[in-house]
Amino acid sequence: MNYAVIGTGIVGRTLAAKLSDLGHKVTIGTRDVRRTLENTEPDGYGNEPFSVWSAAHPDIALATFEEAASTAETVVNATAGMSSLDALRAAGADNLAGKLLIDVANPLDFSQGMPPFLNPVGTDSLGEQIQRAFPDARVVKTLNTMNCSVMVEPSLVPGDHHVFLCGNDADAKEQVSRLLLAFGWPEDALIDLGDITASRATEQTLPLWIQLWTSLGHWNFNFRIQQAG
Ligand SMILES: NC(=O)c1ccc[n+]([C@@H]2O[C@H](COP(=O)([O-])OP(=O)(O)OC[C@H]3O[C@@H](n4cnc5c(N)ncnc54)[C@H](OP(=O)(O)O)[C@@H]3O)[C@@H](O)[C@H]2O)c1
Repeated sequence: MNYAVIGTGIVGRTLAAKLSDLGHKVTIGTRDVRRTLENTEPDGYGNEPFSVWSAAHPDIALATFEEAASTAETVVNATAGMSSLDALRAAGADNLAGKLLIDVANPLDFSQGMPPFLNPVGTDSLGEQIQRAFPDARVVKTLNTMNCSVMVEPSLVPGDHHVFLCGNDADAKEQVSRLLLAFGWPEDALIDLGDITASRATEQTLPLWIQLWTSLGHWNFNFRIQQAG
C-alpha cells in the first residue's frame, strides 16, 4: 500500500516508520520540503530535526502535502489540529477523494499557553470538520487518545487497554481495523464508536489525557474500558 503521512512531527514520523517497517511505501508531507530539511533545531519537545530523522529513514520520502497525497492510496492526517484543515486543503481535495483518510490529530489550541484547550469542542469536532470539508474522503478517526509510541507499540502498556475508531464508511473502518491489528493491537482492543460524530468524544478525552500526563509524569499509559460480566 502507498501511504501519505501528512505531518513531519513526532506523530507523523512514528506512524511513517511503522508503516514502512510493515512494508508499505511511505511519503511524508510538509509545507516546504527545503525549509523542513534545512531546519537544524529540535522541536519544542526536544525531538531531533527532521533532517536527522530522515537520514536514518532513507526509505521514507519527503514531499509537499500535495505531492504526497496525490500519489498515495491512503492518507494519514498527523498535523497540528488547529492547522489540519489548511494542511489538507493544501494536500488537495481531489487528492483525497475516494481515499481512506486516517485522522489522528487533536484540535488543541495552544494560543493561550499550557494547558491547551479544544477548538472546536462540544457540538463539533476536528474529525467532523475534516469529513465536512472533504465529503469524498472516507475519514476514520483513531489513535488520537494515546501517545504516538503507544499507537504503534501497544505492548508498551501492559495488560488490556483500548483503541477507539469512528467514521461513516464501514469499509474504511474495516481497513483501519486491519491496520491496527498489524500495528500489534489485539482484536478485542478495538472499540468502534460509530459514525464520525464520535470524534467529539475521543477528542474530548484530551484534557484528561494531558492532566494524566502531568500527574503521572510520563505518557506510556492508555485508557482501559472494563465491562461488567
Ligand atoms: N504527540 C503525540 O503523541 C500525539 C498523540 C495523539 C495525537 N496527536 C496529535 O497528532 C498531531 C501531530 O502532532 P505532532 O506533535 O507530531 O506534530 P505537530 O507539531 O502538532 O504538527 C506538525 C505538523 O503540522 C504542520 N503544520 C503546523 N502549522 C501548520 C500550518 N499553519 N499550516 C499547515 N500545516 C501546519 C507542520 O507542517 P510542516 O511540516 O510544514 O512544519 C507539521 O507537518 C497533532 O494534532 C496532535 O494533537 C499527538
